[in-house]
Amino acid sequence: MFPHVVYGADYYPEQWSEEIWREDARLMREAGVNLVTLGVFAWAKMEPAPGHYDFNWLDQVMDLLHAHGVRVDLATPTAAPPAWLVRMKPEILPVTAEGVTLWHGSRRHYCPNSQAYRDQAADLVRRLAQHVRGHPALALWHVDNEYACHVTECFCDQSVAAFRSWLKQRYGSLDGLNKAWGTNFWGQIYNAWEEIIAPRRTPAQVNPAQRLDWQRFCSDSWLECFEEQKAILREVTPEVPITTNFMGLHKPLDYWKWAAREDLVSYDSYPDPANPEWMVTAGMMYDIMRSLGRGRPWLIMEQAPSNVNWRQRNLPKRPGEMRLGSYQAMARGSSGLMFFQWRASLSGSEKFHSAMIPHAGEESRGWRETKALGGEVARLDGLLASRVQAEVAILFDWENWWALEQESKPSNDLKLLPQITALYTELFRRNITVDFAHPGDDLSHYRLVIGPHLYLLGNIGAENIERYVKQGGIFLMTFFSGIVDENDRVRAGGYPAQFRDLLGLWIEEFVPYGESQTNVVKTSDGHEFTCDFWSDIIHLTSAEALASYQCDYFAGAPAVTVQRYGQGLSYYLGTNLREEGLAWLLERLCSDAGVRPALNAPQGVEVTRRVDGKRTWVFVLNHLENEVQVDLPIAGANILTGEDVNTSLRIESKGVAIIQQYF
Ligand code: GLA
Ligand code: GLA
Repeated sequence: MFPHVVYGADYYPEQWSEEIWREDARLMREAGVNLVTLGVFAWAKMEPAPGHYDFNWLDQVMDLLHAHGVRVDLATPTAAPPAWLVRMKPEILPVTAEGVTLWHGSRRHYCPNSQAYRDQAADLVRRLAQHVRGHPALALWHVDNEYACHVTECFCDQSVAAFRSWLKQRYGSLDGLNKAWGTNFWGQIYNAWEEIIAPRRTPAQVNPAQRLDWQRFCSDSWLECFEEQKAILREVTPEVPITTNFMGLHKPLDYWKWAAREDLVSYDSYPDPANPEWMVTAGMMYDIMRSLGRGRPWLIMEQAPSNVNWRQRNLPKRPGEMRLGSYQAMARGSSGLMFFQWRASLSGSEKFHSAMIPHAGEESRGWRETKALGGEVARLDGLLASRVQAEVAILFDWENWWALEQESKPSNDLKLLPQITALYTELFRRNITVDFAHPGDDLSHYRLVIGPHLYLLGNIGAENIERYVKQGGIFLMTFFSGIVDENDRVRAGGYPAQFRDLLGLWIEEFVPYGESQTNVVKTSDGHEFTCDFWSDIIHLTSAEALASYQCDYFAGAPAVTVQRYGQGLSYYLGTNLREEGLAWLLERLCSDAGVRPALNAPQGVEVTRRVDGKRTWVFVLNHLENEVQVDLPIAGANILTGEDVNTSLRIESKGVAIIQQYF
C-alpha cells in the first residue's frame, strides 16, 4: 500500500493563503513528508451552496503537493455538515437521550440515521470521487473522521424508526423480541412494533437487553454511513484503498466488525504526557490496532507532535518523547507516522493544539524534532513488509464490554479497561508482546490466552476456548465470566455454566467488596498476596487450588485454580489480585507457556520484534531518565545509526535502537 514509511499530517490549506501553500509544500519536502490528509472538515468549502461544487482549490493543492512528491490521503468531509444544510434540513441534527438537539457551530452535528444527511453526503462523495479520479497524488481515502466521536448515539424519531427495522431483522417476530428482552420482567411486553422506542431517559434502569441491542444498533448505523460512502468510492476509484480513523478502545463502535470492512486500520493516538505510564496504554492501543487488522500493517493516522488542547491541562511531550512514542508505534506494526496537524491554526478551538509547524515557525523545538524524525524514518522502508509476532492473546469483545458495564451489577465498579490494563501491564513489563483476539477467533497459534471478565459469551466463543485448551493451550479466565448469553440472560445452575468442565469448578455466589476492604490469598508455593474488589465462592470439582483466602466467612476457599484439560491447562482467577499477586500469576503462566521476551532488558526498556520472511528487527526503546546498557545475545546493525552492534548496547535516556539481526 505504501512505497515508503509514511510521514505526514492532517493539512488544512483552506485555513491558509496560497502563498503559505507554496511555503508549506517546500517545508514538507524539507521534513520528508510523503503523505498528507486533506479535506477532513471541508464540506462547506467543497459545496458552498446546495448542489454547487467548488474543487478548484483542492485541485491546486493536490497539484502542488504532487509536484513536491507528497501523496494525498483524501478525506470525505462529511464530519462537518455545512450551515446551509442544517438550515435547510434541521432534522439531520442529533438528539440526546434527554431530547436535547445538538446544534451547528462545532463539528459532527449529524444523526447517523438521517436519510437527508446520508443522501447529501452520498451526492458530495460521488462528486468528489469523480472529480479527483485518476489524480496521480491520490493514495488513500479517509472516510469521514472519527466516527462516533462526540456524538455516540442519536435518539431522534428517525433513529427510533431505524432501530425498529433493525430489530425486525434480528428477531423476525415480536414474540422473539419479547423473549430475547425478557419483557415479562416489569411488564414491558410489546404487542406492536410501534410501541418500541430507543432507551431514552426512563425513571429507573432501562431493560438491559434493550440497551444492549441499542448499542449494537448504534455501532451498525455508524457503520452503514461508512459503508455507503465506501461503496461509492470503490465504484468510482476501485484502485484506491479506503480507511477511516479509529479511536482506540472506543466503546461505541464494535471495531472487530469495522476493521473487517476497511483496507487499512488507521488510528489516532493521543497518550497523555501527564501519565507516567503513557507507554503502557499507548502500547496496548497499538497492539489492538494491529490485532484488528489481523496482524496486517496499520497506520498512525494522527498523533500530537506535543500537547493537545482538549484536556484540562495539556502537557507537552518533552524533548525526545515524540520520537520515542513514534518509534513505539513502529515497533508495534505501524507503517508510518502521521500527525495532527501540519501547521498550527490561528483561529478556532484547536489553535493551541501542537502542530509540526508551531506558531513560532521554523525557529522551534517542534519543527527541529519534526524534521529530524522525518529524516530518520526515510531509512526504515525495509520494515514495511514485516509483521510483529505475538505468542499471547487477550480476548476482547465489544458486546461483552457493553453488557459488562451496564448498571445493576454485583459491583458497578467493575470496568473492563482498567482490569485489562492491569493484566497487560504485567506482560508489557516483561516485554511479552500481546495480540488481542475475538473469543471466536482461531487461537491455536497462541501459547497463552487470557479471557478477562468474559461476562457475556456466545456458545461459539465458549466452544472455541474449550477447543483451544483441549488441544494444548494455556488459558486464564478471570472472575464474572460466562455469566450471560447474547441477550444478557443468565445461564443458571452454578456459574460459569459454559466453563464448569473446562475449569473443574463451579461458583456458588459472588462477594463484591466494600471500597477499602481487602483480603489475603495464600498460594500453594508459600506466598501471601493482597486481593480486593471481589471474591467468587468457588467449589472445586476437579481443579486444584493454587491460592486460597485467609480471611472472611469464606476463609480457606480457593481464589486461584488450575487443572489439566485435554492437552492444555485451564486457570481461573476468582478475585482481583493486586500488582504483586498478579505478577506471581503471570510469571507462572508465562513459564508454563514457555513465553519469553525477545531480549532481557532492564525494567523501563521496551523490546519488540518485527519479522519478515528473511529478516528480523529488534526494537529497543529506553523510557528511563538514564542511559542503559542492554546485553545482546544477537549481532546486527542499528539501522538508525548504521553501526554494527554485538554483545551489548548502550542507549541514552529516551533513546531508540532498531537492530536488524545478522544470521
Ligand atoms: C482528533 C480529531 C482531529 C483533532 C484531534 C486533536 O483526533 O480527529 O480532528 O481534533 O483530535 O487532538
Ligand atoms: C477500581 C476499578 C475496578 C477495579 C478495582 C481494583 O475500583 O474501578 O475496575 O480495578 O479498582 O482495585
